[in-house]
Amino acid sequence: MIVHRSTDERDRAWWKEAVVYQIYPWSFNDSRGDGIGDLPGVREKVDYLHDLGVDVVWLTPVYDSPKVDNGYDIRDYRAILPEFGGLDDLHALLSDLHDRGMKLIMDLAVNHTSDEHEWFRAARKSRDNPYRDYYIWHPGEPGEPPNNWESHFGGSAWEYDQRTGEYYLHLYHHRQPDLNWANPDVRESIYEIMRWWLEEGIDGFRLDVINLLSKPREFPDGDPDSDWTGVKHFVDGPRIHDYFRGMRTEVFDHYDAMTVGEMPELTVESARKHVGEDGALDMAFQFEHVQLDYGEAGRWDIGEWTVPEFREVFTRWQEGLAGDGWNTLFLNNHDQPRSVSRFGDDDRYRAESAKLLATLLFTLRGTPFIYQGEEIGMTNAPFDRIEDIRDVDTRQHVDLLMAERGIDDYAELSDLVSYRSRDNARTPMQWSDDRAAGFTDGDPWITVNPNYTEINVERERADPDSVWHYYRELITLRDREPVLIYGDYELVSPDHDTVFAYRRTLDDRRALVALNVAPETATFRPPGDAPTDDADLLIGNYPADGSEDGAPVDDGPGNDPGVLSLRPYEARVYGL
Ligand code: GLC
Repeated sequence: MIVHRSTDERDRAWWKEAVVYQIYPWSFNDSRGDGIGDLPGVREKVDYLHDLGVDVVWLTPVYDSPKVDNGYDIRDYRAILPEFGGLDDLHALLSDLHDRGMKLIMDLAVNHTSDEHEWFRAARKSRDNPYRDYYIWHPGEPGEPPNNWESHFGGSAWEYDQRTGEYYLHLYHHRQPDLNWANPDVRESIYEIMRWWLEEGIDGFRLDVINLLSKPREFPDGDPDSDWTGVKHFVDGPRIHDYFRGMRTEVFDHYDAMTVGEMPELTVESARKHVGEDGALDMAFQFEHVQLDYGEAGRWDIGEWTVPEFREVFTRWQEGLAGDGWNTLFLNNHDQPRSVSRFGDDDRYRAESAKLLATLLFTLRGTPFIYQGEEIGMTNAPFDRIEDIRDVDTRQHVDLLMAERGIDDYAELSDLVSYRSRDNARTPMQWSDDRAAGFTDGDPWITVNPNYTEINVERERADPDSVWHYYRELITLRDREPVLIYGDYELVSPDHDTVFAYRRTLDDRRALVALNVAPETATFRPPGDAPTDDADLLIGNYPADGSEDGAPVDDGPGNDPGVLSLRPYEARVYGL
């Protein structure tokens, strides 16, 4: 990795310069033919990731688990799910990555465990079991949960335990009981697990729903009209800063580890506390931009989003963490529908819009996270049949929506599900046009997106103008241009209908990024020192050679120099 001398030493960090690639092992590459991806399968693709230019791999949970929520329900934090391999496979992967100068971060879910974790199995034996207080129990009569909090997957967040006659809290599935972080033994047990993994040689953690750890002891009712009832009470709960400080002093301060917290409902203000100078973590995932297409009824409703709103959210985060804190940059992950189907055009302008979104990802200030398949412009998949749904969250919401809306035919929900389901991100990685997209020799555990014959790695790599090659060029460009990593951000198109343009500045180097987020041509006059000819073009997603398809910079109305004419979903980055 390059050394940036012009930047203040104190502000530099390897994880700021890194490009992260998220792997959802279930769906990445199956080496054994059982239809489920595995760790040896990931190892087979390490060179692929290295070629792309990836620095860090984030593996979603690979621990032993009963797989209710695809591994986010952990049964044993120190063992690997047998379907994925064993600890030796993980060590082998780690060496493969380290040998190539790459790093590995693990995904740790410690807000909850599986109900099959030995702590919970002990805890539910009796009210006086020594592990009882590892979880959050509350007295109550059957059918009358202690408060109105909801599980993120729908329904009450409380489950009545027959045997001991009390409720336990689960902010996700009822088989994912929440740990009681108020208990110091819980905290120490988790810190031990974190240290254990860091001693195994991993390079950091992605921490699952980590701002939900602290719950107010009074368990007040939440606003029943909110999309997730109770959320205001358990996001950034009363002791969250103590818990974060504990993680930092007990664990993170002793390792050069990268830490990124997943934080639902995060605001800029609270992000500054968690990842600013005094914060415990390096970075946080916030979700405002991926909630722009929620409808009035929330996540399970589709709403219209606009370019001005899109630009406003990114700008607020860029400005909000300037100088104190560091952004994560992502448009996809295993919980989100495919970005090109939401914020681009997955039909006529699929390649152009996928490249435009990539340009955004690599030219804002922050660490870019690519999600598997994003680099080839993978799209949402059709979920026309209820039997094809695998995701527990989608399944529960389909049941709830059918009951609430009095629907008895799934067909009425299939458009919504095909748009919103997390399964969109979980269809197998499309490696080639072989059967099952080259993902497995067996029967894939989830349907393959039928467009794999058109969209696949083999084809993308063979075409120099592909989305894949564009990602690779962007990664190289970001490595070469410190201004794209460390430069200050300034919005320069505050009022345009469709253009999102910004300037990045580091010492005397400037970059101008212009993105036309629309299927129509737009003109835009950048303020100040505008690019005058294509000599300054660092990268663009259309041919820029003045050929038939290329639009010269001064192609604006009346050939006004300094006016950019941007074609549908055109993205350009200039160096000035
Ligand atoms: C996070 C994960 C998601 C999981 C949930 C519960 O949001 O990203 O996949 O279902 O936490 O662990």
